[in-house]
Amino acid sequence: MTAGLGLFFTTDGHGWTRMDTDLGLICVYPCPSVVELNPAVTEVLRETFSISSPEGILEPGQDLVKTAIITGANGFIGSHVACRLLAQGWTVHALGRGNEAGRWEDRVFAAMRQVGSSDEFRGSLFCHEVSLSAPELNLDALFQSVSPVSEATLFLLAGDTRFRPSNPEVQRRVNVQAPVKLVGALQGRIVRVIHVSTAYVAGKRAQLIRESELDCGQDFWNSYEKSKFDAEVALTALCREQAIPLVIVRPSIIINDRKSGRASTFTHLNAMVEVVSRIQEYYGILDGQVVSKTIRLAADPQASPNLAAVDSIVPPLLQIAGSAAAPGKVFHLCHPHPQPNQEVMSLICEAFQVKDRLALEFVADIPKPMSHTEEMIFRSLKVYAPYLNSRCEFDVSNSRSIVRDYDSFFTPLDVPCLRKVIAFQREHRNIP
Ligand SMILES: NC(=O)c1ccc[n+]([C@@H]2O[C@H](COP(=O)([O-])OP(=O)(O)OC[C@H]3O[C@@H](n4cnc5c(N)ncnc54)[C@H](OP(=O)(O)O)[C@@H]3O)[C@@H](O)[C@H]2O)c1
Repeated sequence: MTAGLGLFFTTDGHGWTRMDTDLGLICVYPCPSVVELNPAVTEVLRETFSISSPEGILEPGQDLVKTAIITGANGFIGSHVACRLLAQGWTVHALGRGNEAGRWEDRVFAAMRQVGSSDEFRGSLFCHEVSLSAPELNLDALFQSVSPVSEATLFLLAGDTRFRPSNPEVQRRVNVQAPVKLVGALQGRIVRVIHVSTAYVAGKRAQLIRESELDCGQDFWNSYEKSKFDAEVALTALCREQAIPLVIVRPSIIINDRKSGRASTFTHLNAMVEVVSRIQEYYGILDGQVVSKTIRLAADPQASPNLAAVDSIVPPLLQIAGSAAAPGKVFHLCHPHPQPNQEVMSLICEAFQVKDRLALEFVADIPKPMSHTEEMIFRSLKVYAPYLNSRCEFDVSNSRSIVRDYDSFFTPLDVPCLRKVIAFQREHRNIP
């Protein structure tokens, strides 16, 4: 048998390709088992991700090698999940696509390098080119993998998350049809499916949303929410029919990593930070001026959009994914104590050091004419308006029942954390 040392790629479904990556450590050599590869894998990843400790390398015979098939491994949440699975010693098969920015494997490495949060990687990573929007799913690359794909856990993390996609049909293909096709095609090889949905399958409902609830006759704010709702319905039916254990997790609004301030996608929080930054820039208020004119913001000050940091939700997600008690249930991965808009805005202003220099007023509606600043805020936050004004309260009983100290994974947003978000956005030129 031929296997790669360290990280493995099949790009065309026709066996192994030696690749020179910027890791510079890939070679091909005969090797009898994944377990024996692990010290070498750790070596590669230690160099790549500044891993400091080789502890925890799997010993031959140790029954710890678990297999994951994951979609969306280069995405915001998926890259965190993939890194943690590798840190826990899993064999990870990442399915996704290359694009003009690079080959699939390069995109996965780039994403994982940015997460860089693991201090030990013990597992093996295999990258396979699969487009989830193609009319037919081609899984040859996965099936021909040198690492046998059996008894795997399928993590469904890919998604077209645009609220206003240019082509809603393609969004449905990625969000609804692809997960169903994948589960169908992998029947017999997977022992569990972890479907990452969203808490906002609740659509336009308000008040307490229970994890057991799905179809309450609600309407939706956008095609994204509806596609995620339909995916839950379709996957539940299919997994029941095929007797495949299904776990559905529903994160709320995922925001930047607390340690680094990083987010690979433009988050709700980034939008609010951008708004304050633009006000600050427009008025040049760092020069000691005070903007006495009131700036109106169309949002409910007491509404608490459920913002949860990516590093808060991923550990509970993985605990739930591995729990024997999870199949057949739904879990809200939501902040247990979300902060109201007024408090979040005040903290952002404080982080920009403009807290007492701005007169922000929350109003239900802004009658025209709006000032230039108000127009700018309105445009920037428009897409997030339903969530800014959401009065949903997400029950997390199921999550608390499995994740010990669930609430301790979540902290309130504070100024030091927001300064990291601001620094991250400045570094990536989202804000001046
Ligand atoms: N972020 C949130 O606030 C949030 C909240 C609740 C639930 N969720 C759910 O969590 C999941 C991950 O979200 P995220 O924030 O991590 O999103 P993200 O950063 O936009 O990542 C989406 C992932 O899906 C992949 N994907 C999209 N279209 C694809 C296609 N046609 N073929 C192959 N891969 C494709 C993307 O790959 P490319 O880079 O190639 O497009 C990327 O890896 C989604 O299912 C989303 O619904 C997210």
